Amino acid sequence: MAVISRAQVGIVGAGPAGLLLSHLLALHGIESVVVENKSREYCEARQRAGLLEAGTVELLRSVGLGERLDAEGLEHDGIYLQFDGERHHVNIRSLTGGRWVTVYAQTEIVKDLIAARLAAGGAIEFSASDVTVRDVTSSRPVLSYVDSSGAAHEVSCDVIAGCDGFHGISRPLIPEISVYERTYPYAWLGILADAAPSTDELIYSRHESGFALYSMRSPSVSRLYLQVPPDEKLEEWPDDRIWSELQRRFAVDGWSVAEGTVTDKSITPMRSFVAGPMRHGRLFLAGDAAHIVPPTGAKGLNLALSDVIVLANALRAALVSGSWELADAYSDTCLRRVWRATHFSWWMTSMLHVAPGADAFESQLQLSQLRYVTSSRAQATALAENYAGYQPVRFDA
Ligand code: FAD
Ligand code: PHB
Repeated sequence: MAVISRAQVGIVGAGPAGLLLSHLLALHGIESVVVENKSREYCEARQRAGLLEAGTVELLRSVGLGERLDAEGLEHDGIYLQFDGERHHVNIRSLTGGRWVTVYAQTEIVKDLIAARLAAGGAIEFSASDVTVRDVTSSRPVLSYVDSSGAAHEVSCDVIAGCDGFHGISRPLIPEISVYERTYPYAWLGILADAAPSTDELIYSRHESGFALYSMRSPSVSRLYLQVPPDEKLEEWPDDRIWSELQRRFAVDGWSVAEGTVTDKSITPMRSFVAGPMRHGRLFLAGDAAHIVPPTGAKGLNLALSDVIVLANALRAALVSGSWELADAYSDTCLRRVWRATHFSWWMTSMLHVAPGADAFESQLQLSQLRYVTSSRAQATALAENYAGYQPVRFDA
């Protein structure tokens, strides 16, 4: 016999989207349960995003999640674009009238959110199995799962939020969902290294051998990425080969990449994916469950958190005031922002990566575009405005 319980909102997935949603709903006095199929340790260690838009930082501060972010986050005024052996600075702060970006790892946001939810008595079921959702077109959808001790549970909800990422169970529950997709003929090999970054801000480098990105996690930890073929095996990339390729792709006179012990190594495919509508009956999708962007624009996490702000506002109107208008507009509201970020991420990706078989004509087009972006104020402003976050959403506190 399953243990039967009740929650206003059932949330599938304890990634940044699911956890922030649970936090924002609690601020509105709406209780939720988060069900996650991985362990807490796994969720807190999964290496992913690192860059927050100014609007995301402001939101996290305004909802009581700014303490460690302000102490440990690294605020950057801009980024470097490198091509043809030259490095150019794009000053986002001056181009956007004061916007910026902050380096603060997704792992840290997840840790902060889990700590805040548990301190407030929030319910998060880690290491759940057999997670299923049913009756989403009724007014009492059910979230069921088996907990880590083997007990079966059925939670009767008003609404279910599918925040279960790209491979989750929620998106397939939306019949006749439209999918728009592009895969890219390359992947990113990412490393984390115990090495003080030799740059003050991120470097996006286009090189004839492929794209490279220099990011960081702290004053003593660097995060670096290399464009590799999509089917590449990690075994092909011993540390020595990674460092020499990074030195080659970032080379400028009198400067080099500081090397150190590699503590994490992984390969991520590159994909653009948008699915809609993001709602079916009482089921709402948020974050990577509905859309994926290639990481070149640093948008995925920011988009996931933006969805959740829109959803928290809509669920307050629906569940506290009985007005479903914002919930009815949820999918369209989110998808407009998603498509802007999808275009920006595709544009950054296409401008900076070298496609297999690309000829000299394509190279010249990319270089011309990069020269244009770094010499025209209007072009640089467009990049800066998108990178720092176009039209941030507001949380109705
Ligand atoms: P996820 O983080 O995928 O969370 C989904 C959760 O649901 C997971 O915990 C998963 O275990 C759980 N789950 C899945 N299935 C089930 C199930 N059946 N039952 C219960 N739980 C389930 N974005 C940026 O904004 N800036 C960046 O700089 C950036 N860099 C990136 C670099 C890399 C290499 C990668 C891979 C991504 C990057 N991103 C970046 C994207 C960002 O990491 C994602 O967009 C973000 O994780 C989305 O959060 P989410 O909560 O929607 O999904
Ligand atoms: C990261 O720090 O992991 C990062 C930063 C910027 C990106 C992608 C990833 O565009």
